[in-house]
Amino acid sequence: MTQTHLIDLDSLTLDQLDEIIDMASRISKHPQHFTNACKGKILATLFYEPSTRTKMSFEAAMQRLGGTVIGFDNPMGSSVSKGETLQDTVRVVSGYSDILVIRHSRDGAALAASMASLVPVINAGDGTHLHPTQTLADLVTLKNTSGRLDNLKIGLCGDLKNGRTVHSLIKTMCRYQGNSFTLISSPQFALPSYAKEYITDSGSSFVETDSLKEAISSLDVLYMTRMQRERDKTAGESFNILDKETLALAGEHLQVLHPLPRVDEITKDVDLDPRAVYFEQTRYGMYARMALIITMLKGEMRTVDDHFESFEEMDMPCSFFNCVTHEERYLKRMYKQDEKACICRYCEHTTRRR
Ligand code: NCD
Repeated sequence: MTQTHLIDLDSLTLDQLDEIIDMASRISKHPQHFTNACKGKILATLFYEPSTRTKMSFEAAMQRLGGTVIGFDNPMGSSVSKGETLQDTVRVVSGYSDILVIRHSRDGAALAASMASLVPVINAGDGTHLHPTQTLADLVTLKNTSGRLDNLKIGLCGDLKNGRTVHSLIKTMCRYQGNSFTLISSPQFALPSYAKEYITDSGSSFVETDSLKEAISSLDVLYMTRMQRERDKTAGESFNILDKETLALAGEHLQVLHPLPRVDEITKDVDLDPRAVYFEQTRYGMYARMALIITMLKGEMRTVDDHFESFEEMDMPCSFFNCVTHEERYLKRMYKQDEKACICRYCEHTTRRR
């Protein structure tokens, strides 16, 4: 039987996404109806990178559904420190569990894990690439606060280059009608070109600016993010800060989201403003993960199309330094070709053909 994994929300139809979002809202209203939904099931968490919210919300989600959790959050305390490959660790742990959640510092690692797993795999963040369950949390939050997922003017602010939550959210919001994007960052931390292509290819539009103060009045949603200093040594303090004075320039209907953790990009006094929904967002994230786990364990999720057939094996290294293929060297290098370049199956960055 082929497993259905959640590596990228792109693999779900919009109807499937909407079902998960609706289920999350139902769970938030009547959690007592779901306390035995995953009784007897085991969720494994392989966290190769630090996490507070994502890991604990997965654990809380599984326990609230009556299931149990195993796993590690310090790979150096596991056989990874002895040089075990991702493939072997996943192969073993998937034999102990019913569903597996992985977070890794390399772009494409979750996809690589899914290739070795005996059970469904959920991507809890792969390097700078994607973070689909954070996006589910963002969608459930927007549905419950803005009341819709379409026709929104969405501002994304901060480290748009390295922030995987931004890349995931854009990729999904492009699929809903009428959304447009304001990309607010210093030029050095602008959105990577592959992610800009999601927007243009989907027929949505974007503008770029380095000024939050100038952009904020036109927005329905503001998605703030921190500088990803652990991924990029050149990332210093935040270029744009959301404080009370800046928020005063925004419309009353604005919703301010943030995947958290916050560093210096939102001042504390903003927390009390009703437009700041980032703490509610963390709770919606747990309900979103509960709905996702139920759906995946029931085997009800059908991936629309794996697109695998459009990729071919090529003997060429990926040009992106953080691609998982540079660390897990046994992986077949797979690319999709267009006229000018090859798109890596794992990290989605393009490599020019020699
Ligand atoms: C985000 C992540 O890990 O990408 N955090 C999270 O999962 N809520 C955002 C971040 O680390 O900045």
